[in-house]
Parts: sequence; structure tokens; C-alpha cells
Amino acid sequence: MSEGLEGVIAARTVLSDVDGARGRLVIRGYAVEDLAGRTRYEEAAHLLFDGFFDEAPSDLAAVLGEARARVFAEVGALDDGLARRDPVEAMRALLARLPDGDDLGTALLLIAAPAVFTPAVLRVAAGNTPIAPDPALSHAADILRMTRGAPATDAEAAALDAYLVTVCDHGLNASTFAARVVASTRAGLTSSVLAGLSALKGPLHGGAPGPVIDMLDAIGTPRNARPWLERALARGDRLMGFGHRIYRVRDPRADALKAAVRTLASATGAAPGRLAFAEAVEQAALEILREHKPDRPLDTNVEFYTALLLEALGLPPASFTCVFAMGRVAGWLAHAREQLAGGRLIRPQSVYVGPEVRVAA
Ligand code: SDX
Repeated sequence: MSEGLEGVIAARTVLSDVDGARGRLVIRGYAVEDLAGRTRYEEAAHLLFDGFFDEAPSDLAAVLGEARARVFAEVGALDDGLARRDPVEAMRALLARLPDGDDLGTALLLIAAPAVFTPAVLRVAAGNTPIAPDPALSHAADILRMTRGAPATDAEAAALDAYLVTVCDHGLNASTFAARVVASTRAGLTSSVLAGLSALKGPLHGGAPGPVIDMLDAIGTPRNARPWLERALARGDRLMGFGHRIYRVRDPRADALKAAVRTLASATGAAPGRLAFAEAVEQAALEILREHKPDRPLDTNVEFYTALLLEALGLPPASFTCVFAMGRVAGWLAHAREQLAGGRLIRPQSVYVGPEVRVAA
């Protein structure tokens, strides 16, 4: 048996390849660094969907805008009680209102859902009213506008696109595997996405970027990085944003996202201090992890610079997992369709180590 299914190949996929030894991510034949910063999320979603939906239009932007407008009707169910919950839980509750289905229309509503529900949850939690989508805008620009109540600059929309594209698919990570398991029972795409979202929520997976900000804020200064990180490891804490089940070298997405942070900072004239501080913390963490776990390569993963980028876009850390879902949902949907197209019911076995058979008293 393999703990955590480490090293187990559970599917053939045409969607993405995660090469842990070489630190390479390929999404439908394109290296992630060739997509991030050069492709809108709508195009990446189309790339993932190609061949999995009979009627996928060449330009997803327009139909995705209409889907955002349609799912907004579910926001009426968002009451103050729900809005005060963890944003992922509130967004999940609204997404669960969408019917199951296996067609492109259902898939588009599911891509639209986290993008529309998250801004609504954040605004209601802050005592504001939700803002309806603008179908004419790009997905990323509309997300930022619905969140802030003001238009995003091109540089900001491009930065969010870079993030959403970078995280849109990543092999059989825990949330994508969960989505495939549910798809394999033929439960429907909404059920698959709900399974993926629930798995993503965990701090070992998509719940990590928010705590990266907490870590940086707790460290405060470069001089305090090593003592703080040493104490954290001594407590047995995991350093959020580091380590990976597959990558044994640096996650290629870390540098793609660091580049997006730099591009945004130069466009907005933001002070370079935060990035320089984060790089100092990153270096200290890598040194300490090498000292503490010399036999286990632990490098920077996608979440460390995710946190910097989403913070620079003014998104609250509590929403970071929801934003991760905004990108990954296209991957969950494509994998669910791929599982349906050729996969069997996913049903591994277990070895029983319980009590011997006995006669009930
Ligand atoms: C994502 O799978 C994917 O593709 C996921 C993802 C995607 O795009 O879908 O890439 C997104 O989830 C990135 C990871 C985000 N999570 C974090 O940043 C949380 C911190 N990282 C760790 O918890 C950990 O690295 C995991 C969960 C990501 C991977 O853990 P593994 O492969 O199960 O390894 P492990 O838990 O068995 O750890 C091996 C050893 C352990 O030491 P020992 O108990 O053997 O002494 O390495 C240590 C761990 O304690 N270790 C860490 C560490 N990561 C592993 N120690 C301190 N800090 C860390 N970050």
C-alpha cells in the first residue's frame, strides 16, 4: 500500500503533466511559463475544454460573461449569517445551489460561480451590497470590479489572469482527484466541482496561501525571519508555501507568479519592499528546511508567491482559496469530463486490520 497514494498512477490524461524531477508543468502541450502572463483565463479554459465538450465555442469570453450574469441570481440566497462564514464555505453553499449536469452550459455556470459568489460574499460580509457581473468584461477584470466596486486597470486584470492561468490545472492533485472520483460515479459536474472545492479548502492543499500572509506579517522584518522560522519548525509547524508531494525542485509556478508580482508592481508603482522582504523570508526558509530535512528536498511551491500577488491585488487573505478555485475549476471540469469519456468507476481496495471475525453476543 502507498500512504497517500504517493507514486501511484491512477489515470492517463491529456490535460497536464507535472514533472517533479525537472520542475516542469505542461498544460495541453504548453509550458506553464509560456501561458502565464500571455493568455487570458478564458483561453486557458478553452484549451482545457478542447475535445471534451461537443459544442465548445471558439471564444469563451462572451458565453462566460453570460454565465456570470446567470449565476448572479443565486446571490439572493446569501444572507448575513452565511456571509459571516469562512468565504470558501459561503461560496460552496451558493455553488451547491446549481443543478448537476454534464453539458457545456453547466460547466460554464460552474466556472462563473466562484468568480461571482466570492466577491458577493466579501461585499456582504463587509456590509456592502453585491455588484452584478458585467458580461462585456473579461473574466479577470469582472472579478476585480465585482470585488471592489470600481474598474480594474489592465495591469491588474493581467496579473489576475496570470494567476488564474498558472493554477488552472496541475495533474492529479488532491482536489482534482476528488473531482475525478465523483465524476467516475456519474454524479454530475456540480457534484465533481463541490468535491474538488472541499478538498482544496484544506491547509495542506489550497488553504495554504492565506497563512503565508499571516506568516510574513508575524515575521515582520528580515532579521526576525530565521528565529521565527526556527521556532515554527521546532513546534512541528509546516512552513506554508514550501514543500510538495511531486516537485523535488522549485515549483515552476513560483517564478511565473513572482514575475507577475514584479510586472504588477512596476505598473502600479508599488513599493518593492514587500517583495524584497518576502524573498528574504523565502531564502531563510529554504536554508532552514535544508538544515532540518537534509534528506527531503523542500522548495518553494505555488502558494508563496500566490499570496504576494493576490495581496498586491488587494484581495483579503481569507479569500485566497476561493481565488485558487476560480482558476482550478476549469481543470476540475476538464478532468471530470475526461474521466467520464474513458474512465471506469474509481474504487481502490483497502487491507482490513480490524478485529478478527467474532460472534455477536
Ligand atoms: C498545493 O499536489 C498538488 O499538485 C498541489 C498543488 C496544486 O496545484 O494542486 O500544487 C497546490 O497544494 C501546494 C502545496 C500547498 N501546501 C503547503 O504549502 C503546506 C505546506 N506543505 C506541506 O504540508 C507539504 O509539503 C505538502 C502537504 C505540500 C506535501 O506533503 P507530503 O508530500 O505528504 O510530504 P510529507 O507531509 O510526508 O512531509 C515529508 C517530510 C515530513 O517530515 P517527517 O515527518 O518525515 O520528519 O517533510 C516535512 C514533513 O514534516 N515537510 C515540511 C514541509 N513539507 C514537508 N516541514 C516543514 N514545512 C513544510 N512545508
